[in-house]
Amino acid sequence: MLTDWILACLHHLAVFSLAGVIAAEVALLSVRIEAGGVRRLAAVDAWYGALAGLVIVFGVMRVIWGAKGYEYYLANHIFWTKMLLFLIVGLLSIRPTLTFLAWKRRLNADPAFLPPKGEADRVRTYLLIEVAVFLCIPIAAAALARGYGL
Ligand code: HEM
Repeated sequence: MLTDWILACLHHLAVFSLAGVIAAEVALLSVRIEAGGVRRLAAVDAWYGALAGLVIVFGVMRVIWGAKGYEYYLANHIFWTKMLLFLIVGLLSIRPTLTFLAWKRRLNADPAFLPPKGEADRVRTYLLIEVAVFLCIPIAAAALARGYGL
């Protein structure tokens, strides 16, 4: 019971921090991006990667050591829907990450570099779609936690 509670706390903390990081990226992309913004986006995106990793680690630990036992989740189609949604979020995050890294490289090579508005708008669109999919995950999680999906 204590293990289940500790893992639930860690999973929630990682999930809410990840949501905060995505919101920060959208906010940084919603204003004119200058050199500081490019470096901040790259730094925030590194946190994104680390937190997504923690969400997965704590999530998998909940599957293995949580109160319900792994058989419950492996047989539950809402669990697999949740995994698919998270996979989609991960795939959608590839383009923004590659763009932030490219901007940082270009800024290092040319201190006058500013991200083209078209590129920034495109990345922001990716992030907004990511937010929409991300928001479906807690809905699936709440159903999963209450015994739906079997
Ligand atoms: C590989 C990734 C993930 C795994 C393996 C995973 C696994 C789990 C497990 C096993 C539970 C416990 C459900 C229960 O009480 O029976 C859970 C709960 C939860 N997960 Fe995840 N999860 C993952 C990613 C995410 C993400 C990305 C989010 C948010 C966007 C999320 C949000 C939640 C929430 C809010 C709960 C609590 C639901 C409730 O008690 O009402 N999870 N997760």
